[in-house]
Amino acid sequence: MSHPARPGEAAPASPCVPFPPPAPAGHLNLAQAAQRGPLPDFLPTGDSVADVVPVVAPTGDHIWLVTGFDLGRKVLTDDRFSRAAAVAPTAPAIHPLRPDPAALTSLDPPQHTRLRRLVNRSFTPQAVARLEDGIRHTARRLLAGRTRIDLVAQYAMPLSATTICRVLGVPEADHAHFAGLADQALGITTGIFEEQSLARDALRDYIRHLIAEARRRPGGHMLGALATAHDESGTLSHQELTALVELLLNAGYETSVGQLGLTVVALLDHPEQWRLLATAAHPEHAPSAAVEELLRYAPVVPMSFSRVARQDLVLGTVRIRAGEAVVVSLLHAGFDPRTHPNASRLDVTRPHARHLTFGHGAHTCLGAQLARTQLRVALEELAAAAPGLTPRVPLRSLRWRRPEAVVRGPVALPVTLSGNAPGTRAS
Ligand code: HEM
Repeated sequence: MSHPARPGEAAPASPCVPFPPPAPAGHLNLAQAAQRGPLPDFLPTGDSVADVVPVVAPTGDHIWLVTGFDLGRKVLTDDRFSRAAAVAPTAPAIHPLRPDPAALTSLDPPQHTRLRRLVNRSFTPQAVARLEDGIRHTARRLLAGRTRIDLVAQYAMPLSATTICRVLGVPEADHAHFAGLADQALGITTGIFEEQSLARDALRDYIRHLIAEARRRPGGHMLGALATAHDESGTLSHQELTALVELLLNAGYETSVGQLGLTVVALLDHPEQWRLLATAAHPEHAPSAAVEELLRYAPVVPMSFSRVARQDLVLGTVRIRAGEAVVVSLLHAGFDPRTHPNASRLDVTRPHARHLTFGHGAHTCLGAQLARTQLRVALEELAAAAPGLTPRVPLRSLRWRRPEAVVRGPVALPVTLSGNAPGTRAS
């Protein structure tokens, strides 16, 4: 058994490898893959990758990476691991930016359970269903009359921004301002996020203003519901609500942009799969099952947040010590050959694609239903508008977000919307 070495400890039985771990010879390195998107051949095939691998994060910290689907699910539901301990200043970290300890993602039960219960009420399937018509209308408007488009800047970004604005109740007139601030603060098109503190401050001020408005006039949107949500312990505190809105924006906006970009790249890389999806003769392949397969194949968030072991424990064949950190590779989980036959093949007709792309357990993605709906509608509208979709640049030459970003995705995706009949579709 091996474990990550810490200062003053004996060298581990098997040496730590760079993070993410290199793939076997002949395969792309995972570090490149994390940056470059849905390239299944970077993945080790067969059983050549261990279930738990010691890795060194970009921070220099030593972390255990869990690659198996079943073991990954187990970690994400195992209360011997703590999120709160993982955001402590001394805990091993994957990314240099430490998460807000007050954020939903940083809490353990019972604090997490209480907050999550309050928030769940605003993300019901009915609340998400009410957003679908608006998402479709926006998608259609963005594609109408075009023969060329950058699917990141002109489709995924405005579509996701409009959706998150509607969730948060941003007035229509402020959508462009809000989207601009969010883009700068998150570095979606610039790829730079450390140097955007001015934009982040401006965005935070705007969020405070939104919350104050929602408390005064709750309206019919989710932020209004959150601002007035209460249980026996009272309402969400101002700090809880501010952290939550920032999280919704971070977790909801750039993930949706990246996921749509990655998904379309995967489809352009497999034109026969795009044809299957876009052909009305095969309606059974589109859209929900196909969307699950695309989420499996091209997860926008390749790694879970880290968890820290509260006690010594055994995971698979590895002994983890109290205080050590574990990360689940959501990317590897979807390609586990024990769970998915022909895992490295993208197959939009796969009946039951299983994945951990939205995580699992208590911290499972709050916006999963919304994200699925948005991805499905965006693909449906794209397929209807442009069954002959083609890339305008070789996929090899696409620019990708930086590998250390939590969220992957192309920075730009120029395509030709062939098959589009400009202005003829009803909205
Ligand atoms: C394709 C898009 C998305 C993907 C792939 C995604 C992925 C994830 C993953 C993997 C986690 C869990 C991380 C962990 O436990 O380590 C998560 C949590 C979360 N996501 Fe998403 N997400 C997406 C979209 C959204 C959207 C649209 C929203 C909201 C508008 C959202 C809100 C959240 C929140 C609030 C959490 C934290 C939940 C908690 O800690 O209880 N996400 N997401």
